[in-house]
Amino acid sequence: MASARRLASDLAAGITVSDRRFDALFPAEVRVHSKVHFTPVKVALRIRDWLGRDSSLRILDVGSGCGKFCLAFAASGPGRVTGIEQRPNLHDTAQAASALLGLTNTTFLCGRMEELDWTRFNIFYFFNPFYERIAYRKGMDDRTPPHAGLFFDYIRLVRDRLAEAKSGTRVITYHGMGGRLPQDWIMVRNEEIHTDELQLWVKP
Ligand SMILES: C[S@@+](CC[C@H](N)C(=O)[O-])C[C@H]1O[C@@H](n2cnc3c(N)ncnc32)[C@H](O)[C@@H]1O
Repeated sequence: MASARRLASDLAAGITVSDRRFDALFPAEVRVHSKVHFTPVKVALRIRDWLGRDSSLRILDVGSGCGKFCLAFAASGPGRVTGIEQRPNLHDTAQAASALLGLTNTTFLCGRMEELDWTRFNIFYFFNPFYERIAYRKGMDDRTPPHAGLFFDYIRLVRDRLAEAKSGTRVITYHGMGGRLPQDWIMVRNEEIHTDELQLWVKP
């Protein structure tokens, strides 16, 4: 508990913390997936650099897992971060970790991203959330078996939601979102970080 609060205050002070230290927030059976499936702390902090300390940020992490991106970002500054996650165990882990860190600017929803109203958010974050549906033998468990048809349905749905988004809405992808953004979206930043590219897109 005390170490979680210290972790939160280090992040609030702009101190980069290691993934090993951050992942100690999570139970071992969740932590084991961190390297492959959850956003590294330095990527979350780079996104904070890009977006700034802006209290009007309303971010949705589409497929938030155990909340690692949401938690690291929320601890590092203002703005509200919402995560939606289909796996109840990961959702519960995120909520517990948020409480340990003492955060008040996170919301974790348990459910499917396709059932959520996206209109109240001005930024969407994707860490290739549907990849498990096309990645044989790389899933976290057997709850989301490969299903290519569903993968492409998800990408279509995301593109439709982004096509309807208001001008000025932003998207951040790490390892992509699984498909192309609608044609009119503009990529304004692109940086190699950790194991892939981090991109920032804006709807004109
Ligand atoms: C690669 S992990 C990323 C986790 C988190 N965004 C992060 O960066 O730390 C993708 C997550 O998306 C979730 N997911 C995939 N499809 C989903 C859907 N349709 N609705 C909600 N969550 C979904 C998976 O269960 C998984 O936990």
